[in-house]
Amino acid sequence: MSPKHDVGAIASHFQIDDAFLSSTPYGSGHINDTYCVIFSQGAVTVRYIFQRINHRIFTNPAALMENIERVTSHLAARVSSEPDSLRRVLSLIPAHDGRFWHVDPERNYWRAYRFIERARSYDTVTSTNQAFQAAKAFGRFQKLLADLPAPRLHDTIPDFHHTPKRFANFDHAVNSDVVGRAKSALPEIDFAYKRHAITAILLTAGLPERVTHNDTKFNNVMLDDSTGEGICVIDLDTVMPGLALYDFGDMVRTATSPSLEDEKDLSKVTMQFPMFEALVRGYLASAGEFLTKEERQYLAFSGKLISFEMGLRFLADYLAGDTYYKVNRPDHNLDRCRTQFKLIESIEQQEGKMNRLVDSL
Ligand SMILES: Nc1ncnc2c1ncn2[C@@H]1O[C@H](COP(=O)(O)OP(=O)(O)O)[C@@H](O)[C@H]1O
Ligand SMILES: [Mg+2]
Repeated sequence: MSPKHDVGAIASHFQIDDAFLSSTPYGSGHINDTYCVIFSQGAVTVRYIFQRINHRIFTNPAALMENIERVTSHLAARVSSEPDSLRRVLSLIPAHDGRFWHVDPERNYWRAYRFIERARSYDTVTSTNQAFQAAKAFGRFQKLLADLPAPRLHDTIPDFHHTPKRFANFDHAVNSDVVGRAKSALPEIDFAYKRHAITAILLTAGLPERVTHNDTKFNNVMLDDSTGEGICVIDLDTVMPGLALYDFGDMVRTATSPSLEDEKDLSKVTMQFPMFEALVRGYLASAGEFLTKEERQYLAFSGKLISFEMGLRFLADYLAGDTYYKVNRPDHNLDRCRTQFKLIESIEQQEGKMNRLVDSL
């Protein structure tokens, strides 16, 4: 038994014929509880990933699982003729009742995936080739889902990237100033108000709605151990209808700066142009086929917008007294906001060059 959950008991509800051997907490994800679970199949062992869905964040696990089920079965059909197709898409294991989840006595929702072997996810990008591979994998994910049949996927987190609403929440947090912190964030508040006008740009640009991943951090793609290829996109909890550029923008936000999200030394926060170039090239290598001219035009801008959105969220949470994000120090959310805003400054300094690169490809 694992320290927190009796994963052996959970596993007995899934359609796995092999004998349960052991389970260990796995990975460095911050949202769900993930376990690597080992079963014996005669002389060999087989691994699965079991996850308890965080239903504090995802309040409708059944809708979320329906999205994942539709997306993974569509992807599986689309890659079935490719070599190594089983490692190119997450595959859900059904429970004995035929559903793709199991609810335990504490009302926790559980799911099981086949383990993607001979591949790994990494927390930080260390080379431009890794950035290229990740962006190509996320672009391919969007491409393969472009013909997902109706109906529309569930909006499991409504208005997730509605930047004007995020701005309105921030504005409300400034005006209410419930914990009296506004006076210690005056430069950041000013920075945000000065950029209000950018919040509506993508929403009013008439861009097509697509199936998007919405959590395109580098550690949500598995890279093949021998080839380095971005073989499988994982962490599908936020798959929803959205704009393609939200996914690309979040890659720019999370993969172009060598620093941590809560780095205090802001001189370390910078948009590294070669990483941006690798992201654009990787993304266009797969998504280039379906992106419209208008979508391409906003590739550089999208990184700035998503960084702004996250900065606003961190700042609003700081002003509200740290009610959403976990903090380990009093100014933690303000530090996180500052890294986002520093990244925006770095993007603004290079935006002309970034746009010229996109235009040249
Ligand atoms: N099917 C899988 N095969 C192998 N490893 C996996 C699989 N699914 C997830 N993982 C590993 O578990 C980690 C956490 O999973 P993830 O779904 O990203 O959870 P979180 O939402 O908490 O980030 C991943 O970073 C990855 O290393
Ligand atoms: Mg993850």
